Amino acid sequence: MKPTISWSTLPTRIDNEADLDDLISTPSQAVVDFMSGLEGDVAILGIGGKVGNHVGIMTRRALDLAGKTEHKVFGISRFSEDAKREQLERAGIETVACDLLDAASVQKLPKAQHVLFMAGRKFGTQDRSDLTWAINTLAPGFVADRYTGSNLVAFSTGCVYDLVPVNGMGATEQFATAPLGEYANSAVGREQIFSYYARRDNTPTCLFRLNYSIDLRYGVIRDIGDKVYAGDSVNLDMGHVNVIWQGDVVQRALLSLGLCQVPAAPINITGPETVSVEYIARRFGTFFSKEPQFSGVPAETALLSNAAKSFTLFGYPQVPLETMIEWTAEWILQGGGSLNKPTHFETRDGNY
Ligand SMILES: NC(=O)c1ccc[n+]([C@@H]2O[C@H](COP(=O)([O-])OP(=O)(O)OC[C@H]3O[C@@H](n4cnc5c(N)ncnc54)[C@H](OP(=O)(O)O)[C@@H]3O)[C@@H](O)[C@H]2O)c1
Repeated sequence: MKPTISWSTLPTRIDNEADLDDLISTPSQAVVDFMSGLEGDVAILGIGGKVGNHVGIMTRRALDLAGKTEHKVFGISRFSEDAKREQLERAGIETVACDLLDAASVQKLPKAQHVLFMAGRKFGTQDRSDLTWAINTLAPGFVADRYTGSNLVAFSTGCVYDLVPVNGMGATEQFATAPLGEYANSAVGREQIFSYYARRDNTPTCLFRLNYSIDLRYGVIRDIGDKVYAGDSVNLDMGHVNVIWQGDVVQRALLSLGLCQVPAAPINITGPETVSVEYIARRFGTFFSKEPQFSGVPAETALLSNAAKSFTLFGYPQVPLETMIEWTAEWILQGGGSLNKPTHFETRDGNY
């Protein structure tokens, strides 16, 4: 595998999970150059989730390529999955098991000049909304209190905005937050808690408003591909989405360490297209030689972010939409693994 990734070095297909993880975790030259100017250790909290291990591994690889081998990368999570912890340790990340709802344990976490906060809870909110609020607002308070003065990138979500017209401009960072449902409200709470501590303690903070990261094992594109492959109908009520390749997400998360400021400021992170769900389904239909089935009618509004600011700062994502669809189609055809964690992107009332 190549040490760094660029658009011109993308593979035509991905054969297995090791190659997939390697691809997503490969830094771009821009990330290596950025990391060469970084001083101090990096802590990634909530590293045990769908995106965290890639953030951890790319951080380690970029620091090593930048000659910053003495800087440590700490991976912090409860580690509900042992395999994730072992993968991270093998990659040179120092893992620390910690429940971020335990304030005393959080205070004992290793010092770090740079922090990426990725812990969160979305699914299961209807059954235990109290737990969602605790993880999304209480844990950020404990973490911000521990890491005063560090550069802090706090993962957030495009769900903090209301639905917007599909023929409009998408929600920019200037749009007021107007969340739908308990999860999105708690995500606004997470941002507000980080913003409060940023001002209180002069902690430079970036609110990383992501929507729909694409890995071949989960994500909106995989959800649609699975439906078309199985002959199930694709619901078109949420007729348009924004998506971005997970490797591009991880690169942007690391580059966002350079955007941390007081007061905390948001950045929208997604792809450049307003993508039609019907279009994605029809592309899969071509690959699978199946006529896609549909239900519902595309609404005039959808959850859509305008990520123009991120393109100005970081350039366009490296992996184009068509490539994501093609890789996913090949992956499904070869029986490639799934996390079995549907995004429920069709949901329009915020109850995921
Ligand atoms: N993936 C996306 O497309 C997407 C889109 C929009 C926003 N986001 C945001 O980006 C962040 C990362 O995304 P993700 O998909 O990786 O999320 P995820 O799969 O839900 O991972 C979050 C991880 O946080 C850890 N965690 C939860 N509660 C914890 C606690 N009390 N103490 C310590 N760790 C805890 C869990 O790992 P352990 O079980 O190991 O503790 C969990 O797997 C999330 O906060 C989400 O809001 C993601």
